[in-house]
Parts: sequence; structure tokens; C-alpha cells
Amino acid sequence: MEPIKLGICGLGTVGRGTVEVLERNAASIARRVGAAIEVAHVGSRQSLPQLRAAGVQISADHLAVARDPQVDILVETIGGTTLARRLVEEAIAQGKHVVTANKALLAEHGNALFAAAAAQGVQIAYEAAVAGGIPIVHALSTGLAANRINLVAGIINGTGNFILTEMRDKGQTFAAALAAAQARGYAEADPAFDIEGTDAAHKLAILAALAFGIPLQFDCVFTEGLTELDPQDVQHAAALGYAIKHLGIARRTAAGIELRVHPTLVPREQPIAQVDGVMNAVLVNADASGPTLYCGAGAGGDPTASAVLADVVDLARLVVSTRGDKNSGKNGKGVPAARVPACLSDPPATVPVLNIADCTTAFYLRFDAKDQAGVLSRITGLFSDAGLSVEAIQQREPTAGSQEATIIMITQRAREWELRRLVQALQGLDALTSRVVVIRVEDLNCAESPDEHAQSEEA
Ligand code: HSE
Repeated sequence: MEPIKLGICGLGTVGRGTVEVLERNAASIARRVGAAIEVAHVGSRQSLPQLRAAGVQISADHLAVARDPQVDILVETIGGTTLARRLVEEAIAQGKHVVTANKALLAEHGNALFAAAAAQGVQIAYEAAVAGGIPIVHALSTGLAANRINLVAGIINGTGNFILTEMRDKGQTFAAALAAAQARGYAEADPAFDIEGTDAAHKLAILAALAFGIPLQFDCVFTEGLTELDPQDVQHAAALGYAIKHLGIARRTAAGIELRVHPTLVPREQPIAQVDGVMNAVLVNADASGPTLYCGAGAGGDPTASAVLADVVDLARLVVSTRGDKNSGKNGKGVPAARVPACLSDPPATVPVLNIADCTTAFYLRFDAKDQAGVLSRITGLFSDAGLSVEAIQQREPTAGSQEATIIMITQRAREWELRRLVQALQGLDALTSRVVVIRVEDLNCAESPDEHAQSEEA
């Protein structure tokens, strides 16, 4: 059987990892595909000894790889959205299948790229774009294909999870924990992508398109980062039995889809709350399978290469099975749409994405108040006026000499606009001596009714 020829653009951590894992496991991969997979052409300014030894063509011009007629599958690991977009467009125009690890590219330009690929009868595969070595794209598109998915909630940025774990276990400030993440090489070159939630929002947009059959809508993801997180809230949450996780949450409700990335208190007994350090985890709740949890390394050369090569194997099988078929093949129209998001199905889903004000969660509140008789009853009176129920309340006694107590409250589930109205009222109390810190709380028990938003109301 003639080998399947790969073009690989980019020899950073992921590109190198892909070359190395392919070399290491070439025999078993060939058995699984039914043909050998060879690196035929690499786009890079550098090379690797094993590529030189194998006489692999190296081009500084990535587009030369996309235009190389011997290449069956183009692997894009250069990152960014400008050259990467041109490269993927060119590969598609040349009738090549594409494998990409590029979440920003797909989240921001995926709708157009998937449409172009469908028109050309080729596929864009992107297992490596979300959660590194965890096969969550395959799980959503294949393993759970028979289900109606209600919830996807994930720790999908390892740097953020590492920072939160350091803050909890070592009592570090956010800045010190970020410095530790950078020292270990976890954070992106621009750490803002990690700590402000952009990286997680890119990944969530992709997961939501797969889970709900909606277009990629990165611009509609509500995103709140970790930079404002105070270590005392991490400690208070732990004392109350919660872990704070930076979650990406996509939830189906009767009124629309919630798409949000923010720090979240999660009960410690939830398995996802126990996923610490740089690890990723994704919880999916679906109607037939029930809840399933996927956990593993979200970044790094080998784990991401595992995801890239899973897609290469899938597409290579497709190339093998369609070779010699005049009506199909890599340029044919008979190619099954394995991982093309259902957003490109006909007709596309038109479920709206909800504004954050209409999203529903429970809330953790922390504020300081004068330690005087009657203050607590005025506070709880405001909750009652707002129609909001209190799940838990805790008062930290004032330190010696201080006239202020720290009050921590956890509300029952409410819409965000209701909570904002309550916070405004609380802040009007002269007994309050600090701002009100608010962090969303999710029990993730998957038992909430999707009809929760049926009576949606504007703020
Ligand atoms: N910077 C990302 C993370 C890895 O920390 O999870 C690549 O997506």
C-alpha cells in the first residue's frame, strides 16, 4: 500500500512532538491505518536530525507545503491566525485534508474555513485544538453522537488551573502563582490569553459548536479572567467545601445557550473539582449517556501530538478507503463529514446565545460590614426583598481592635440580573465597608431543568 504523505507546517512544541510520536509509534500507527504514514514535506526555518536523515523536504515557505502535490494531509501547527489562515485556505483549495491544533484560528475563522472545506470535499480535523491529549472532540462528535447534550463544563486552560491550585495549596497571590506557572513554561507567550480566559473562550466556542450544532460564536462567549481573584476567596471557598476552578461552561436552556468562562466555585465532592495542577478536564452531560468526565494533559508536546496524530489516523483511513474511487478521494464530494460541526448542517441551528445577565447560577458573595446589632438582618432583608434565597451564610469574627466582620454568603440559583440588582442594594447600605466580591457557583450535578429559563426576563 502506498504510504500516506504528510506535510507539517511549524516545528514548535506541537510540530516536533508530532514528528517524534509518529517516528516512535510508526509501526502500530501503520497497522491501524492500513498504510504507512510518512512526513513528506515540512514548513519551517529549522529542521530536525531525523527529518534530515530521512531526506524530508524542508521549505521556509509554508505555502509551498500546502501546494506540494504529493502531500495528502496538511498538519498546521504554526499557530496565530494570519499566516495559519492563508495556509489552511490554500491547503483546502489544493484539495488536501487539514489537521490543525489552532483553537484561535477555528474559533475566529472556523465558520468560513469549514464551509470552504465542505465545498472542496475535504475535512478539517482539530482534536488538538481543545484540551490537548484529551479526545474530547472525538467524544462529542463520535462517542456521544446519539445524544442530546445539555452541558459541557471544562477546565480547558491548564495554566489557569495550575495558578488556582498554587493559590489554594500555598496561599500564594495571583501574581506569585502566575510567576510560578511562567517559570515552569506553562503559560502562553502572552499569558493574557491564559489568565484573562481568551484561550478557554476559544476552546469553549469550538466545544459548543460541536455539542449543540450552533455556529462558532467566540464573540458571544462571556469571559472573566483570574486576574482579580483574591487568595482569601480561594481559602474561604475551601473552608466552605468548594474548589475555585476557571471553567468554560456551555449549557443548553429553554431560552438559549449559555456560553461563559469565569472563576467558579464547585463543590469539592464533584470529580472535576479534584482535577488540580496543570491538568484539564471536561464534564459532559448528555441525555442518554448521563454525565461523563474526560481528564488528562491539556498541553505539551506528546499529549498534543497524540491528538494531532489521532486526526491524521482518521483522515489517513479515509484517504486509504477512497483511493482509486473516481467519485470520492481527497478531492471527491463523497467524503463523510466526521468532525465538521453540525453548525454547517443544512439548515443550521438557530438557537440564540444568552446574554450573561440572563444566565443562571448560584453566587458566592464576600464583603465587610460594621459589626453591629441589626446589620445582618438588614442584609438578609435585602435578599428577601429581591426574592433571592440564601443557601449558606458565614460571619468571620473581626480581628482584635477591628469593628468590622467579613460576611460570606452563598445564594441559591438566580439569574445574573437579579443578583446584580441585589448587589447594588447591598452596596447602598451604610453598614457595608467594602465592595461586594461576587463569584459564580455551579454544583454541576446536571439535574437542573433545561426549562429554567422558560420565563426569561430582562434586567
Ligand atoms: N496555554 C494553554 C493552557 C495550552 O495553559 O492550557 C494550550 O492550549
